[in-house]
Amino acid sequence: MGFFTRLFGRRKVNAEREVKSADGRVVARFVLAGGKMGYEVEKDGKPLIKRSALGFKFYGMSPLSSELSLVRSHTKSFDGQWETIVGEERVIVGRYNEMSVYLVERGELGRLMTLRFRVFDDGVAFRYEIPAQTKFRRVIVQDELTEFAVNSNSDVWFIPAYQPDRYEYNYERKMVYELEAPVHTPLTLRAPQGYYISLHEAALYNYGAMTVFYDGHRLKADITPLSDGMKAYIDLPFEMPWRVIMIAESAIGLSTNRMVLNLNDPPRGDFSWVRPLKFLGIWWAMFVGEWTWAPGERHGATTRHAMDYVDACVRLGVPGLLIEGWNDGWEGDWLLQGENNKFTVAVPDFDIDKVSAYATKRGVKLVGHHETVGFVDNYEHQMKAAYEYMREHGIFYVKSGYAGFKMTINGRREFHHSQLGVRHYQRALELAAQYGICLNVHEPIKGTGIERTWPNLLTREGARGQEYEGGALSPSHACILPFTRMLAGGMDYTPGIFEVYNSTKRLASTIVRQLAYFVTIYSGMQMVSDRPRFYEGEYADLFAFIREVPVNWERTVPLLGVIGEYYVVARQARESLDWFIGGVTNEMGRRVKIELDFLAEGHDYIATIYRDSDDAHYRENPMGRVIEQQRVRRGDRLSIYMAPGGGVAIAIKKA
Ligand code: NOJ
Repeated sequence: MGFFTRLFGRRKVNAEREVKSADGRVVARFVLAGGKMGYEVEKDGKPLIKRSALGFKFYGMSPLSSELSLVRSHTKSFDGQWETIVGEERVIVGRYNEMSVYLVERGELGRLMTLRFRVFDDGVAFRYEIPAQTKFRRVIVQDELTEFAVNSNSDVWFIPAYQPDRYEYNYERKMVYELEAPVHTPLTLRAPQGYYISLHEAALYNYGAMTVFYDGHRLKADITPLSDGMKAYIDLPFEMPWRVIMIAESAIGLSTNRMVLNLNDPPRGDFSWVRPLKFLGIWWAMFVGEWTWAPGERHGATTRHAMDYVDACVRLGVPGLLIEGWNDGWEGDWLLQGENNKFTVAVPDFDIDKVSAYATKRGVKLVGHHETVGFVDNYEHQMKAAYEYMREHGIFYVKSGYAGFKMTINGRREFHHSQLGVRHYQRALELAAQYGICLNVHEPIKGTGIERTWPNLLTREGARGQEYEGGALSPSHACILPFTRMLAGGMDYTPGIFEVYNSTKRLASTIVRQLAYFVTIYSGMQMVSDRPRFYEGEYADLFAFIREVPVNWERTVPLLGVIGEYYVVARQARESLDWFIGGVTNEMGRRVKIELDFLAEGHDYIATIYRDSDDAHYRENPMGRVIEQQRVRRGDRLSIYMAPGGGVAIAIKKA
């Protein structure tokens, strides 16, 4: 008789164990049927995820999924709240009931596995935990067998996985049964019963990222492979990332789901030094061809330009400045090389000592830039020295970049989202934390809420951002992001382009919409992306909003939204009574009614409304704008017109 049998008596091969959310409406059920494990999810008695398989195929071993018996299970409740240092809310409430199910495999190997479920009022998460075992210490995951049997007649908004531009695609909308290839998460669905569901993962460490595919019957997990075809090499004990099923009755309700953050651990260390940042950049000038990253006649990152931009930061009241193209490695076509990029060598026309001393003197925080072009081997050799170099120059923010289809790790080409990619991003983040550096990661691994544990991960890109403007973005994109990508955490969308129309790029946006993004797209580092002269000219009156809008929020109240059509959100400035509203619409103009129910009772406020003019249009008249002021109180309602491809930005401050 085995230890567990002696302890717990006859083990069950048929069993059901369920756990409900605190409000009793969401149920997760673990089912063991003839030794095969599965789960189901219901809300209000309606099945949202029908019986779905769980388990693994391990390399060189039999699969672990169907020869199991239940040892025991137990449940407990959590009702806690915690504070973010930087985030969409200061206080996040984490209320869930947890069920742990302990399993043992019948037969020779007697493998052990624990399934832990957490049921929130707005969704279900579960994870596999493989305890230390005497018969083996290491497993190679060949396949994860997790399924998500949602109704195949659900609408789904998705971007494709395993493609050259990683996460940077336009969302498509289809029915689940029409999905032909693996897609990324967060994968947002609208089920026929009217529920909104988003499938994602939380706390992704040392494992391949999950994509999802439709096998003709149901959605299944597909873990990003390593170059040898395996999914992950893991030493035991090991806790897999959480599989997350967010549930809401409306799209707007889905947009503030905080499960992903709640499923991560509290900070690993003292991060009280982390600060959000708004920053200008030697950046957009390169995208419109005015300057270059590489040294030469039109080099952007020269000592002179950098000092001018520092002055512009002071004049405009923008506290930070990003400088791209400062280091050795940009000559030629930077996208095709990069093996030899140096992160401690400034190019001759950029005097980093002079620029950093000047920035410090003028109180401007520099944002360093590490473009690795995916040559992780090259970067890892230099990483420590590179962060030291930043620190020595008083630079405590770094934007990193991993452009390219795949990464070079240990001399092999690997997906960014593979286990080796995930490990690299983590090493960089932890090392940056040691040096007191905050990161803004471009071409990142998707967000899985780890910024709760590592708050120095202030933001990331990880979706098509404004740099795709000039043809590859439509106004609906920013009306999809809040319900999809943004469920994975903050995004550096690079808002604030005032020259929405020039000969190289024409944005799918009115100028007013550029203000709205500062509120609709949360980012712990928020870029003020255009060249300073555009903020000081004819449209300087609009810049007042950008100067004032906070980066860090006390509270977020989602107001209105239909996926792909429009989105309006209100956010309260941290530790203040001031509120900011942002709204965006697709190619259709529309009038929205905004109820000011969130304002504090008994106060008078002045709302400064930056709106599209009645004749504005993102193609025909993108600059048409109106700025007006109105006295408002709690309970008032604003009726606002957003032009095609336009938006609205409102600053509401105590009178
Ligand atoms: C792609 C990044 O998204 C962009 O912001 C950056 O300027 C370029 N790579 C160069 O690093």
